[in-house]
Amino acid sequence: MADKHKRTVVQSRENIERNRSALDRWIDSAAWLDRPTKVVQDAILKFYMALGGPGQGLKSLLHGTKPLGHPLHPALTAVPLGGFTVMFLADWLAIFFRALPPVVGTFALIIGILGMVASAATGYTDYTGTSGRQSRYASIHGLIMTIVLLVMIASLLLRYQPGGGLVFAGVLVSSLAYFVALFGAFLGGHLSFGMGTMVNRNAFVEGVTNWTDVGSMADFPEGKLVRAQAGDMPVLLVRLGDRLNAIAATCSHAGGPLDEGKLKGDIVSCPWHSSRFYVVDGAVKDGPATFDQPAFLVREENGKVQVRLPAPLR
Ligand code: FES
Repeated sequence: MADKHKRTVVQSRENIERNRSALDRWIDSAAWLDRPTKVVQDAILKFYMALGGPGQGLKSLLHGTKPLGHPLHPALTAVPLGGFTVMFLADWLAIFFRALPPVVGTFALIIGILGMVASAATGYTDYTGTSGRQSRYASIHGLIMTIVLLVMIASLLLRYQPGGGLVFAGVLVSSLAYFVALFGAFLGGHLSFGMGTMVNRNAFVEGVTNWTDVGSMADFPEGKLVRAQAGDMPVLLVRLGDRLNAIAATCSHAGGPLDEGKLKGDIVSCPWHSSRFYVVDGAVKDGPATFDQPAFLVREENGKVQVRLPAPLR
């Protein structure tokens, strides 16, 4: 027994830290980022609020909630990165081999800039729905991409100055910015794939497809948000008139508890970032969520309320 204790390996903080990237460690220590992050996020939200109803519609559009039903930012980012890649190749082919007219690179740069403006609008909108370490990563990602955008615009202006030397300077500047953009894109990929930003939070549960007890009718008073557990999923139950509705209680946007949200008519709003869903069928009405909430079938059997999904989620 004593021998066994001697062989026990104790995992130290240093060992774990050694395996983490320098960037991760730096982000953890960058608490100073939280204040400016909050200021920018609040300013963006205030901008949308100042626009009233159309502002909410625009915000949902840029998140991808309506009409796409899928996050818009990741799809749009392919446009600037593709444009800048073509620009980089065309510029240097034109300079070294005269294989292409110089205007090709400049045209690709313009496409890239336009795509980046659209990506920035969607990205800053999604940024308002991040928090904690995710926000810090998103701040760095957004800052890098904003600087790249400004440098690319400067490159475009340089290319239109009289004199060939300045055109070359424009190419040089945009080429350097291109590699910075690739690093920024790496951070964006980490935000999605490493940290789950804008990933459907109900994508990793199977859900119950067998009728499962969640209580009795008396547990669900009219208009009250009630949380229950059905298999591996928390369920939000809401009785409206003679109909008992049940949808997933975990907000598809970032996992907020919908049972702690607010009910207005047949719409529940998430307490974390105010996504709104219809409790009748789980359809998302307003973002930042872009995915609907899974909706359950409900029945009363032998005095018990039972729920099940029409089909497994995975
Ligand atoms: S967790 Fe963000 S809106 Fe629900």
